[in-house]
Amino acid sequence: MRPVIVVHGGAGDILDELVKGHLTGVRVAADLGYRILTQGGSAEDAVEAAIRSMEDDETFDAGRGSFLNQDGDVELDASFMEGAQLQAGAVAGVRDIANPISLARLVMDSPLVFLVGEGASRFAESHGMSRCTPARLLVPRELAYWELKRKARLGDTVGAVALDCTGHLAAGTSTGGRPMKVPGRVGDVPCIGAGLYADDTLGATSSTGAGEEIMRVVMAKYAVDRLEGGRHPQQAADDTIRYLQTKVNGSGGLILLDRQGRFGVSMNTRRMSRAWRSDALSGEAIEP
Ligand code: GLY
Repeated sequence: MRPVIVVHGGAGDILDELVKGHLTGVRVAADLGYRILTQGGSAEDAVEAAIRSMEDDETFDAGRGSFLNQDGDVELDASFMEGAQLQAGAVAGVRDIANPISLARLVMDSPLVFLVGEGASRFAESHGMSRCTPARLLVPRELAYWELKRKARLGDTVGAVALDCTGHLAAGTSTGGRPMKVPGRVGDVPCIGAGLYADDTLGATSSTGAGEEIMRVVMAKYAVDRLEGGRHPQQAADDTIRYLQTKVNGSGGLILLDRQGRFGVSMNTRRMSRAWRSDALSGEAIEP
């Protein structure tokens, strides 16, 4: 099987001054993940490496650089899924873990599926992952937005989907949620079937956008189900965004990769940064 990776840096009203950073960030993430795949690494390793690099890049609303909630705190959500056994892991409301995608993968590799808040952080520690200070996740740009009490922008969640040399699929999604969110608010990202889905018999997807509406249409599972009968992922992705818009007036986007390595990207937002790598195709874009 020829490996493929597609990553996204979020759909929304991405500010002009962040466009260059978004394009660089998704390119670096896709290159990292693709290198792992071409060296025979697993889809899980590629997805985790790609998303960690975007969590560490303060351009994105994930890990360091995330939006702040109404109290001025960072609360992170992330999820991981693999398509062979449908194992999934998710964390929500995490305040002191620098790379929640790695924690979501640890949860996936345990008998559990979903952990929140302090319990998730304790689980991380008990598995050798250290906590960070909440200040490590906070950047001056987001503090300035918070102090201005700016109107909420749409989320710039990050995500990745990968197909490895064995034909195995994985997906991951990570976010700081929406700016000025109510403390304790959780969006689509850690909800399996909304923020992501992976099934080796069909495909893998990662969502981005307004989480409340994405949850109400269970967008990721909807998208993967649209691949039944061999439908092209671009058509399935477009159908999904049309459904999100017409059914619940939602805004967002998704990346969708099928078991043959074909992929689609769709959004109804002003911008969505993304990058893709395979032996045949390589590129990045931010405009629709
Ligand atoms: N899609 C990110 C969120 O709504 O939290």
